[in-house]
Amino acid sequence: MTMTVQDIRSEFLEFFKKHGHEHVRSSSLVPDNDPTLMFANSGMVQFKNVFTGAETRPYTRATTAQKCVRAGGKHNDLDNVGYTARHHTFFEMMGNFSFGDYFKEDAIAFAWELVTKNLAMPKDKLLVTVHSSDEEAAAIWRKVAGLPDSKILRIPTNDNFWMMGDTGPCGPCSEIFYDQGDKLAGGPPGSPDQDGDRFLEFWNLVFMQFEQEPDGQGGYIRKPLPKPSIDTGMGLERATALIQGKYSNYDIDLLRSIIEHVADLTGVSPDGDQAAAHRVIADHLRACSFLMADGVMPSNEGRGYVLRRIMRRAMRYAHMLGAKDPVIYKLVPTLVAKMGEAYPELKRAEGLVTETLKIEESRFKRTLETGLRLLEDETQKLSGGKKLAGDVAFKLYDTYGFPLDLTQDALRAKSIEVDVDGFNAAMEKQRDQARKSWAGSVDSKMDKIWFDILDQVGPSEFLGYETESAEGQIRCLVKDGKVVDAVNTGDDVRLVTNQTPFYGESGGQVGDIGVIRTADGAEMRVTDTQKMLGKLFVHVGTVEKGKFKTGDTVEMRVDHANRTAIRSNHSVTHLLHEALRRVLGPHVAQKGSRQDASRTRFDINHPAAITAEQIDAIGASYRWARRRKARTSRSRSSCAAARMRGARAISAFSRS
Ligand code: SER
Repeated sequence: MTMTVQDIRSEFLEFFKKHGHEHVRSSSLVPDNDPTLMFANSGMVQFKNVFTGAETRPYTRATTAQKCVRAGGKHNDLDNVGYTARHHTFFEMMGNFSFGDYFKEDAIAFAWELVTKNLAMPKDKLLVTVHSSDEEAAAIWRKVAGLPDSKILRIPTNDNFWMMGDTGPCGPCSEIFYDQGDKLAGGPPGSPDQDGDRFLEFWNLVFMQFEQEPDGQGGYIRKPLPKPSIDTGMGLERATALIQGKYSNYDIDLLRSIIEHVADLTGVSPDGDQAAAHRVIADHLRACSFLMADGVMPSNEGRGYVLRRIMRRAMRYAHMLGAKDPVIYKLVPTLVAKMGEAYPELKRAEGLVTETLKIEESRFKRTLETGLRLLEDETQKLSGGKKLAGDVAFKLYDTYGFPLDLTQDALRAKSIEVDVDGFNAAMEKQRDQARKSWAGSVDSKMDKIWFDILDQVGPSEFLGYETESAEGQIRCLVKDGKVVDAVNTGDDVRLVTNQTPFYGESGGQVGDIGVIRTADGAEMRVTDTQKMLGKLFVHVGTVEKGKFKTGDTVEMRVDHANRTAIRSNHSVTHLLHEALRRVLGPHVAQKGSRQDASRTRFDINHPAAITAEQIDAIGASYRWARRRKARTSRSRSSCAAARMRGARAISAFSRS
């Protein structure tokens, strides 16, 4: 019987477990150990610091099935998804890793055995590439696999040098290809027509030997790693397609079951001229669901905006399939049935994902149709070769909620481009106006400096729903009201990073306290965190030792006991509010509140003095609600926001 995705995933993990590898769970899609990455884009990301020697683990061999998203940053596949047989925003990468344990010889032997025995791929269909400088790897392939030189191709380019991003561990690599036969066009790797579909790469073995770092002058330097290591990545969807004899990844059992569900819901054939729409929806459903399960929620900034772009792209395609009502949320059970066992976080988040997709799609549907009509009218006016005006694309963005790439995608079939410079100029103009109007508002006393900083460094990404410690990169340092490049022992500073687990004061809840450190041992005590202009998280505190510079990578750790105490006091306000409404009446509205680690204050409006009896009744009602909450709160663990704040009402929607 043909192996399913589930079988192949298990076979891979079991094989490496049998060879002494620790099975490590997939990390979150939001890397908390790498501030330079938007999403985990390969299996090695969670081990980055293990390769460089900054972190040690109790094992030197590991194997994972890693959730990956490539939809932003260096590896971005969003535009191609739907139009090719293999691009995805979300995919699974199977990997085996050696941290200074085995190197090339064993990595090649393991891969060859698994592929040819356990996964039963025919040897005569396989060929490999090595970097042209790596004769050692070529010799091992000859010895281990018995491949002739004609099937060991030397590639001189960066195709055979793998890098996670601009910085981080990297090294030459060797890739395994499958020849799908001459019914498909394309030449072998390294040939002029290598981009054809015939020869398909499905497993990349990276011989990790270097760490790339900024050289401080705008360039990069490569340092050898403490010990040569191994990082491999096998695309699960690709390997499955080959094993199941399918040309397209979208025809493998897992994705096909989602596509068939789309076809059932819309009544449109998955194999006709709307096939791309089915593929987009199946792919994007996975990306959106897994991102939300990892705490990313749709928003207009950073990761949340990438999520929203993916969601809306899927929604436009659902609309093209004629869906009158929201449909994407209806697909969640099929996805959970197929992947919930391997990724229990998906099962836990099922309710949150379903509700959020439903609300987002209902909202977007209200403007989608009008926006598409406007786009249609505007493109009809365009004569041959003309671009869509930037201000039209901006209006679609600003009024109708069309991300720029959605407009570009919608025009793709007509080969019309968007004037992107014009779009950016319109965006800039609007920002300027917002800035001016803000300057005249009640907040004008706010230091002007924060507007400039926000413009320069962009909003901070908040990771604190998921984690209390993470790495960040210093984007800005402020001392004595001025931006500075570095701060030293004894300085009182305000420090801004690109991402942070520190909660910034807002909604009556005080900011987190904790500590921020560099790898060189510099330490800052954070005594408060402020959210400025609604988007910028500013860590306030004193440098206790060492030096911090803009651009430094720092480890950020929230004071756990303090966070827990604030969280409990935050829960108190919800329960108290309920008790007050029960006793005094439904008119009781919250007028303000403040929680810190030791107490909570809750302001209300009520037209009369509260009597002693009423106070007793409020106390009793509060105690009753608290007991009830203790019994029910366990079932809400899927909502990241609730996890952090311990809130009674889950506000997955208010965060959008
Ligand atoms: N990091 C390599 C890749 O993504 C191998 O895992 O291809």
